[in-house]
Amino acid sequence: MTATRTTVRHRVHRFLDLVTTPLVPADYLDLINPLRPGADLRGRIVAVRRETADAVTIEIRPGADWRGHVPGQHVRIGVDVAGVRHHRTYSLTSAPGEPTISITPKRISGGLVSSHLVERAQVGDLVHLAQAAGDFHVPVEAPGKVLLVTAGSGITPVLGMLRAGLSDATDVVHVHSDAGPDDMIAGAEIRALAAGGRVRLIERHTATAGRLTAADLCVLVDDWADRETWACGPAGFLDALTDHWDDHGLADRLHTERFTPAPRAIVGDGGLVSFTESALEIDVPAGRTLLEAGEEAGVLMPYGCRMGICHGCLTPLSHGTVRDVRTGALVIAPEGESLPIQTCISEAAGPCHLDR
Ligand SMILES: Cc1cc2nc3c(=O)[nH]c(=O)nc-3n(C[C@H](O)[C@H](O)[C@H](O)COP(=O)(O)OP(=O)(O)OC[C@H]3O[C@@H](n4cnc5c(N)ncnc54)[C@H](O)[C@@H]3O)c2cc1C
Ligand code: FES
Repeated sequence: MTATRTTVRHRVHRFLDLVTTPLVPADYLDLINPLRPGADLRGRIVAVRRETADAVTIEIRPGADWRGHVPGQHVRIGVDVAGVRHHRTYSLTSAPGEPTISITPKRISGGLVSSHLVERAQVGDLVHLAQAAGDFHVPVEAPGKVLLVTAGSGITPVLGMLRAGLSDATDVVHVHSDAGPDDMIAGAEIRALAAGGRVRLIERHTATAGRLTAADLCVLVDDWADRETWACGPAGFLDALTDHWDDHGLADRLHTERFTPAPRAIVGDGGLVSFTESALEIDVPAGRTLLEAGEEAGVLMPYGCRMGICHGCLTPLSHGTVRDVRTGALVIAPEGESLPIQTCISEAAGPCHLDR
């Protein structure tokens, strides 16, 4: 009985394939139900809430194949702006296990996608999604004492943690720096947590008190060294915290999330790169990532954050050696096998083949 049904379904699909070419039946199914199981992963915007003058929370119903997330993780989304698809990464600000997920983009001056999302995202819009990723999260067995240090939009991954009940499991101090009280995303919500004794919140406003420094932190939180710390904010701020924790021999107790790339440590060697599927061979100079080189040559290269975080650019390296420009480490394709590499942070280190 099941075999007969399968055969009939198979014939119906083949018939539909023939009559609907050049589109395939899946394309029509996507039009009817773009969130169905088996479709490319997308989400539909179900609410847009203003957070501050330049940030909104966008609530998204993800497709059926969404696998869920851990608080603190991020998601790569694809949005069409003026007919061109752009991908960016945003921290998930919702607690896991809900029927919807949320992200909270903050508009940056001249920012293409953040401006689009903050000014023009609408209920009903579809966005493309990747699965949640990232290791900026508190372990299931939370440490006894936690310090959260955030600045500006860097509060977003921590919001996901607090909404998931982090402070029910552990003693949390949250230090947040922003221009003024009205600039803090979800300020009212976190102040309410603090008023209920669930979190010790320390706000610092740059408009009146200047930029928060690592030295300030030690004064504001006297037991900072006893706390496992998660920090997210501008690059300079995170660099200063990293140096401070390093200087005190506590590097392994500080976890950071960066929204912008860490400075490049190394310039690679360059080399002759074959894009095997595109039948292209180009001489890539030192100082150019394989992602940039492929794009310049017209190869369709996947990407997301462009800074080595999201793995959206993974591409098989089937031959040769590349260099990770963040660390200088060499990555060598094993004989007869392909190794997925992040093209956005890799440069050629001699001749190599990429299966694109
Ligand atoms: C793991 C991760 C999580 C993130 N989570 C969030 C989040 O929750 N909320 C959020 O608002 N953003 C978040 N971002 C940043 C986000 O991915 C985009 O980089 C940001 O929205 C800018 O994109 P854009 O298209 O508007 O700017 P673009 O048009 O790409 O860039 C315009 C200019 O702004 C600079 N720029 C790019 N990003 C930033 C930035 N973050 N800060 C300052 N200058 C920048 C660029 O160098 C460029 O000069 C996250 C990034 C990562 C990697
Ligand atoms: S594009 Fe995100 S890791 Fe390369």
